[in-house]
Amino acid sequence: MSDNDSQAQAEWQRKLQLYPSLKKFEEQGDDFVESHDGREERLLAFIKAHPSFSSMQGNPSLILKAMDEYAYQQDFLINIGEGKGRILSDLIAKQKPKVLVELGGYVGYSAIHFAGQMLKAANNPSEVHLWSLEFDANFAAIASELIALAGLKDIVTVVVGSADETLRKLKSERKLSSIDFFFLDHVEDLYEQDFKVAMDELKLLGPGAVVVADNVVRPGAPKYREHVRSRSDVKSEGVKGLIMPGELEVGPVISSGRSTLMFAGRARSHVCLVKAQGFYRIAPLREEPRCDQNRDRIAKTESVGMA
Ligand SMILES: C[S@@+](CC[C@H](N)C(=O)[O-])C[C@H]1O[C@@H](n2cnc3c(N)ncnc32)[C@H](O)[C@@H]1O
Repeated sequence: MSDNDSQAQAEWQRKLQLYPSLKKFEEQGDDFVESHDGREERLLAFIKAHPSFSSMQGNPSLILKAMDEYAYQQDFLINIGEGKGRILSDLIAKQKPKVLVELGGYVGYSAIHFAGQMLKAANNPSEVHLWSLEFDANFAAIASELIALAGLKDIVTVVVGSADETLRKLKSERKLSSIDFFFLDHVEDLYEQDFKVAMDELKLLGPGAVVVADNVVRPGAPKYREHVRSRSDVKSEGVKGLIMPGELEVGPVISSGRSTLMFAGRARSHVCLVKAQGFYRIAPLREEPRCDQNRDRIAKTESVGMA
């Protein structure tokens, strides 16, 4: 085994120690799923049974910490996680948005993160509001419970439904007339369509609005990227984020043709882990054929949710 290979193996062992939830990738291989298998309900039960639960009321950071703990120790969660959460919190502190809309609320992690930061950054907290649009009613119910626990229910509204329809409804009901910060984190293939709904059809995004889209490089939202880059009314830039648990980063393809897929993150992960010569390496999702296969399978699961 080469020095590089031994280093990669030692690195993977270090990650397994830090993030035991990664072991499921090894154990379950192609059968590994990242959501909709009861882990979201188990997360809620974990939080309610947590030794710090009695201190969580009105304490967003303690709730986020417990959610991270669950993701590291028990089951991977498809939320933005600590690393990207920090990057976006800094952006919110700088932009001071009054109205933030997120597409894809899942179980409330990003909403709790953002709303807590919006309150800190706001000159007038009573003007601040976050709309969290989530397709899945069960996830939305869990999110609402955690948001209430965080003491943020007055400034966060979770709305169940498909993001485009919800945007139209909120606009027609005059609940939403403009968005300062727009976060796309639902389905990469819908980013372009739903961005156009907000920007062109409903005219919710005016000068100075910030639009953040997660996972645009890998697995990627090529049509969305092409679209925003081609518009003269949008300035576009890229920011590199880290996937947690696992501290996974996009890196060069170092897998071989003999690789076995161990983990292809649903649309949300930028990378997959491949098993080559008995240990794990990290490869970008699009450049690893077996990861793409898995991505298709998972993408179909997503579209079932949307039917
Ligand atoms: C990656 S998760 C969002 C994670 C969340 N932003 C966080 O970081 O805590 C994506 C979510 O989008 C939801 N979703 C999928 N299609 C959607 C749609 N068309 N409209 C709204 N939500 C959708 C899924 O049910 C899932 O909960």
